[in-house]
Amino acid sequence: MEPAQEDQPALEPNRKDVPVLPVRDTVLFPHAVLPLTVGRESSIQLINSLGDEKTILVVAQREARVDTPQPSDLYSIGTLATVHKVVKMPNQSLFVFTEGVQRAKLAEFTQLTPFMRSNVDLVPDAEPAKSSETEALQRNVLTLFQQIVAGSPTLSDELQTVAMNIEEPGRLVDFVASSLPFLATKDKQEILETSDVLRRLQEINHHLAKELEVQQLRNKIQTEVQDQVQQSQREYYLREQMKAIQKELGEQDEAQRDVEELRQKIEAAGMPEEVKKEALKELTRLGRMSPMAADYSVTRNYIEWLAVLPWSKSSGVQVDITKAHEILDADHYDLKKVKDRILDYLSVRRLKPTMKGPILCFVGPPGVGKTSLGRSIARALERKFVRLSLGGVHDEAEIRGHRRTYIGALPGQIIQGIRRAETNDPVFVLDEVDKLGRDFRGDPSSALLETLDPEQNSTFRDNYLDVPFDLSKVLFICTANMLDTIPEPLRDRMEIIELQGYTEDDKVHIAERYLVPKQIEENGLTKEQIEIPEDAVRFISRHYTREAGVRNLERNIGTMCRKQARRIAEGKTEKLVVTPQVVQEFLGGIKIRIDTEIAERTKRAGVAVGLAWTPAGGDILFIEANQMKGKGGFTMTGQIGQVMQESMQAALTWVRSNAEKLHINDDFFKDHDIHIHVPAGAIPKDGPSAGVTMATALVSLLQDRPVRPLTGMTGELTLSGNVLPIGGVKEKFLAAKRAGVRDVILPAENRMNVEEDLTPEQLEGVNIHYASTIEEVLAIALPASKRQARQDKETRDQVLTSAGD
Ligand SMILES: Nc1ncnc2c1ncn2[C@@H]1O[C@H](COP(=O)(O)OP(=O)(O)O)[C@@H](O)[C@H]1O
Ligand SMILES: [Mg+2]
Repeated sequence: MEPAQEDQPALEPNRKDVPVLPVRDTVLFPHAVLPLTVGRESSIQLINSLGDEKTILVVAQREARVDTPQPSDLYSIGTLATVHKVVKMPNQSLFVFTEGVQRAKLAEFTQLTPFMRSNVDLVPDAEPAKSSETEALQRNVLTLFQQIVAGSPTLSDELQTVAMNIEEPGRLVDFVASSLPFLATKDKQEILETSDVLRRLQEINHHLAKELEVQQLRNKIQTEVQDQVQQSQREYYLREQMKAIQKELGEQDEAQRDVEELRQKIEAAGMPEEVKKEALKELTRLGRMSPMAADYSVTRNYIEWLAVLPWSKSSGVQVDITKAHEILDADHYDLKKVKDRILDYLSVRRLKPTMKGPILCFVGPPGVGKTSLGRSIARALERKFVRLSLGGVHDEAEIRGHRRTYIGALPGQIIQGIRRAETNDPVFVLDEVDKLGRDFRGDPSSALLETLDPEQNSTFRDNYLDVPFDLSKVLFICTANMLDTIPEPLRDRMEIIELQGYTEDDKVHIAERYLVPKQIEENGLTKEQIEIPEDAVRFISRHYTREAGVRNLERNIGTMCRKQARRIAEGKTEKLVVTPQVVQEFLGGIKIRIDTEIAERTKRAGVAVGLAWTPAGGDILFIEANQMKGKGGFTMTGQIGQVMQESMQAALTWVRSNAEKLHINDDFFKDHDIHIHVPAGAIPKDGPSAGVTMATALVSLLQDRPVRPLTGMTGELTLSGNVLPIGGVKEKFLAAKRAGVRDVILPAENRMNVEEDLTPEQLEGVNIHYASTIEEVLAIALPASKRQARQDKETRDQVLTSAGD
């Protein structure tokens, strides 16, 4: 106990001398119970010095960070408090339970060390007169407080009850202020210092309103975040509801009707028993599914596919061979051998419809009528026609479909073609079998084989359908540009029918009789409006196309017709007779002058014209030799294959070993390099048949004698200078003729091919020279005298100047 207290002069009634406990960041209000942690040495001494008199003044520091506060560091108003309990903490600090009693104002300090003591004056509450304003304010404070407590996740709901039971407005404010954790120390202190209860109410009211607003805003943000999370769940519920609504509206019936329709289609489709069973099984499954289910449409599509295929629908007409013959003739010019073989084939099939015969395959350059023959056969047989281009098909699934488990799966092209045909016995043309791809995606040729093989195709199984479909009534016809790249097992099952390229005369005939009338009709014109006579057709063929077939010729004739149609539409209705001038006007200047190309390029010594076989039906080929200072090097360029390179080496060897006979200086090869180039590098070239052409180019170069104009040659060359026969004579010859070559040098042993394969009409206008040694070739290919060389120059000039017309 403080004996000093006894010695004090009598105190004013409201004045007391008490120990002062400074606290940081805390304001103790009257009637509030506050546990204080006391750690400062001075404060510990203060608590320890307390005797029975347990009253102290708790007052906040103005600045929390001041460690040894002086009187000036303290607010001037604090709260008298009773110390109820002191608990010693293990770290020497104390836990002190205090209860606020009354506001008190610091007067003179009576002691500063070891702790502060001071005289304090009690500050009574200035109670306002009971008015409706205070009442309203008080109620408002209570409601706001309750709202805040209710909306706060951390404040205990009991606070509401306690607050409700406080009657005096001043005390209510004190309670509220000390309960709100968000109120700043400064604000609390301000409320503590306000003894005017009305003003205190107003102050707390203001703080509460502000806090409520903040709280509501925070809650709103919070809900929004939660809403986003719940959005997907919401959607799910909405969907479920929608389903329920649809059910209510009877839309389920719609699905039911759909199933019924499918059932009728299945019944009408004439399916084999096994397939029908499968279809009905899937249908039952569909009936049980919700139309909203993800795989509903998958199942439905599948049933639809089964239902629409022509399981038992065929055209079923007997083949009438005479009529078929008529139709083939009506659609195609000449092609006698080809038509004969087609008719043979059809006759056999007629006698033995179950014949498991070979598949027809038309092989030949583009535009010679392979596809259109297929179309014509379909017409002759009164069957549907479907065409599938295999060019660039890499994937087995394109032929045979994807399994149904695969997303977006569909049947393969074969089944799709059958669906298009709407009958199970169409003529099915598989175009460009030679361009079938093969890579990591699987080998489509084996799927194709299964399609075509009469032993297997009566139970053809598409991956998507997964039930067998009978393809045995389909008449498959393949087309190809060349045989080499058709997969071996496929080729074995084919009956190959070769179609050759056409000569200019063939083309003119085809155009006159077929293409021109066809294009006139297709473009909505009549014979009274346009006439394209022979000379115009020939002019187009010669100067605007360079092809074995007639595809571009037909296209250009079509262009002529469209231009005339346009003129008619513009009011120029008089009949148009197409002349070469009109052609140039409509199609633009001459596109192709291959004869001038030959004349131009062979001006220089070292260039010779070879003949090549290509899948497009033969072409001419320039071989250019050049020399430069060097050390006997030899370069070859132009995408040439192994065999062709070897034949170049052989040609060079022959020339070198015969250098003396050829009057070539022996030292020449020591200090020169030779380069042979075959232009149009993008086209791969191979084969031995350019041997004589290369030797000719070399000799021409080394003797500085240009090759005779418009001369082309082909033949394999041996090291000893013999000329060996080559293949593809007909295509090569026709290509040379098309290109404007007037003299063709061929191996003597190929004479037979010429006589057998080429008609007099085709041979007309070209001189053929046969040679069995390279010496004979050179004698024809190079000018024999100065006079001849002069003549050659004149011929070239003539060709080049005539290019203008
Ligand atoms: N001998 C021919 N008689 C009549 N028209 C032909 C003849 N050869 C080709 N054609 C026509 O030429 C065009 C191209 O023929 P197409 O069958 O597409 O050639 P391919 O399939 O051989 O590339 C078609 O309009 C076709 O009718
Ligand atoms: Mg074709």
